[in-house]
Amino acid sequence: MSQIAFHLNGAPVRVSDEAPDRTLLDWLRETRGLTGTKEGCNEGDCGACTVMVTDATGSRALNACILFLPQLDGKAVRTVEGIAGPEGQPHPVQQAMIDHHGAQCGFCTPGFIVSMATAHLNGATDHDDQLAGNLCRCTGYAPIIRAAQAAETAPVPDWMKTDRDIFRPQISQGGEGEARGGAEPPLPGFRPRTSDELAAWYQANPEATLIAGATDVGLWVTKQLRALSPVAFLSGVTDLQQIEDQGDTIRIGAGVTIAALRHALAPRFPSLGELLRRYSSEQVRNAATIGGNIANGSPIGDGPPALIALGAVLHLRRGDVRRKMALEDFFIEYRKQDRQPGEFVEAVTIPAYAPDLRCYKLSKRFDQDISAVCGCFNLETVDGVITSARIAFGGMAGTPKRAAAVEATLIGKPMTPEMADAAAALMAQDFTPLSDMRASSAYRLQTAQNMLRRYVHDLAGVPVSVLEVRA
Ligand SMILES: Cc1cc2nc3c(=O)[nH]c(=O)nc-3n(C[C@H](O)[C@H](O)[C@H](O)COP(=O)(O)OP(=O)(O)OC[C@H]3O[C@@H](n4cnc5c(N)ncnc54)[C@H](O)[C@@H]3O)c2cc1C
Ligand code: FES
Ligand code: FES
Repeated sequence: MSQIAFHLNGAPVRVSDEAPDRTLLDWLRETRGLTGTKEGCNEGDCGACTVMVTDATGSRALNACILFLPQLDGKAVRTVEGIAGPEGQPHPVQQAMIDHHGAQCGFCTPGFIVSMATAHLNGATDHDDQLAGNLCRCTGYAPIIRAAQAAETAPVPDWMKTDRDIFRPQISQGGEGEARGGAEPPLPGFRPRTSDELAAWYQANPEATLIAGATDVGLWVTKQLRALSPVAFLSGVTDLQQIEDQGDTIRIGAGVTIAALRHALAPRFPSLGELLRRYSSEQVRNAATIGGNIANGSPIGDGPPALIALGAVLHLRRGDVRRKMALEDFFIEYRKQDRQPGEFVEAVTIPAYAPDLRCYKLSKRFDQDISAVCGCFNLETVDGVITSARIAFGGMAGTPKRAAAVEATLIGKPMTPEMADAAAALMAQDFTPLSDMRASSAYRLQTAQNMLRRYVHDLAGVPVSVLEVRA
């Protein structure tokens, strides 16, 4: 019998015989009667299904609609039903939402409450960012933000601290009072603990689907109704989740989440940090991995343009055979990558230093939106003359792609607005972008040209962000 063991609102549970692609949201509502967790979009966009998940690395908000049950094994889950105290005492964020009139129809409210309680537990006060993944169509955000601010100084209730004390050794022996006796039964889906285990299994099962954060794969199930089998869950492969400072380079494991990447790289590359702040929402960043962002080969992913502009090297592994390549060479054409059956993304390495890297994301909404165009620029100059140029775009072609003609014309030229104007004209040689619901072809091209102009002004210290007001 296949079993998954985790804590749910403070009590151990074991789940038997669920398909590996059963989502936490469906299971909570259909099996446990925990209907406080709402289904809004079922694709990670609205936050109505937000739950708090705790493991050895901390507590984070995640979207239950695109979270598969095996991803929870050994963790602790808290739904909105577990946010009030054991005697029904309201959590400080619940009281603040009442005091500040933070709900009207109330459909979004459970998701907001869980996001707010998780941020409160973590001491996070960047409420706009913490709540960007929770959508409300009737109250308006001001009362909700006021409520979050009002609760900031309230102590964390004792019952919210208990999840951090319980991790896998205790949980895996628990489960509705029973111990797991003898050999641990197999979990639904393969769940390697090391990249060696993953490499051996994937080589033998090259037709399998790898599931990392499931922020893409989740939608294959909830929106395309695809049946996935066999599957391997990468969330337990801790050696893929490391970021190593190697001196001149930084090695980023494929399983590093966007949230962890942002935390690690923002101090060194502030512009990349800002791009990652606008990568979807807190809930999605907490699940999505950089390996998944690269491997899915999307032409509009935000990670690849930034990494390509940095000169990233991609590390692939199949069995015991490893190879590496410039990241841009991985993307062959739309949805086709240079990856063999049974081969997986192991890591990506980037230089430790790129002071003039700038990343610009253009999307219809500031938060929680996929880029229409994402432009990343990394030029080096000596005495005002451009000596090296790496410019990469998402949203301009069927793959993330460098602006080769623009780069070539920039080398040896002065970094001036006039030069940017001249080079921008060559964008049309490099790209023939599509028109779609995000932007027209002409708009994309003009935007890309303007981003180059913006870059030159940016490096010259001219204010370029409409969100910043400087004297
Ligand atoms: C609401 C929402 C908003 C989003 N917003 C953005 C955004 O702003 N910017 C952006 O770039 N993306 C965005 N995305 C897309 C998604 O979050 C990213 O592509 C994400 O990085 C995928 O990572 P994952 O770990 O969730 O991948 P998964 O969904 O687990 O997997 C994605 C693909 O990669 C494969 N894969 C995963 N890991 C590996 C590996 N190590 N080796 C080989 N193959 C692997 C899987 O088999 C699958 O084919 C958004 C998604 C959602 C649902
Ligand atoms: S139901 Fe909308 S994010 Fe899950
Ligand atoms: S209160 Fe109605 S959607 Fe937020």
